[in-house]
Amino acid sequence: MTERPAYLSATADAYDAVVAPYVELAQGALAQVPLDRAVLAAFADSVRADGAGTVAEVGCGPGYTTAHLRDLGLDAFGVDLSPAMIDHARAAHPDLHFEVGSMDALDVADGELSGILSWYSLIHVPPAELPPYFTEFRRVLAPGGHLLLGFFESEGGPTAMFDHKVTPAYRWPIDDLAALARKADFVEVGRMLREPQEEERFRRGNLLMRRQ
Ligand SMILES: C[S@@+](CC[C@H](N)C(=O)[O-])C[C@H]1O[C@@H](n2cnc3c(N)ncnc32)[C@H](O)[C@@H]1O
Repeated sequence: MTERPAYLSATADAYDAVVAPYVELAQGALAQVPLDRAVLAAFADSVRADGAGTVAEVGCGPGYTTAHLRDLGLDAFGVDLSPAMIDHARAAHPDLHFEVGSMDALDVADGELSGILSWYSLIHVPPAELPPYFTEFRRVLAPGGHLLLGFFESEGGPTAMFDHKVTPAYRWPIDDLAALARKADFVEVGRMLREPQEEERFRRGNLLMRRQ
């Protein structure tokens, strides 16, 4: 058996330790951010227009964004590294399926998914380790499948680690993240940058991509 990289264990342990305060922040957060809801709605519309197949939220944490996708009419399930986050997600959303796992090794057959949402989860992957994640997303998506990324944008600087409250995370130039996805055979459909709202520190980036 191959050993799990240290950064994955560190991320899982860090999120296991903060479920209650994280839930307090995450619950209802989308209601405060119309632009985030608009991007998620565009993703959901795109998946529904192509036949409404199954969608995975990878790095789903407590499951609120997965439930939002369900409310937008998607057949969504969630995957997360943190067993404690998954316990919470299952209790809070008993009608949805959640599993513990890493998004670079999904327990999903080739081409099974119509969409993948990574909403502030790739942020914890060290930049040098990121390319295989896009390869895995490509493997599990059907041709034409949709990928939506939410992340912290680097605002003109290079990719850089910052002191995320839970565990180290990285801000990315939106062009660099789009280029990495393109290398794994994704084409860009659209992008959005939004400025930080009150109590947020950084500009947010979204990339909507399609698997070729
Ligand atoms: C900032 S939280 C976002 C949670 C959720 N997407 C939301 O918007 O509330 C990041 C989540 O990604 C998960 N995560 C980070 N790396 C992961 C990986 N390689 N595989 C699965 N989950 C991962 C963490 O455990 C954590 O729950």
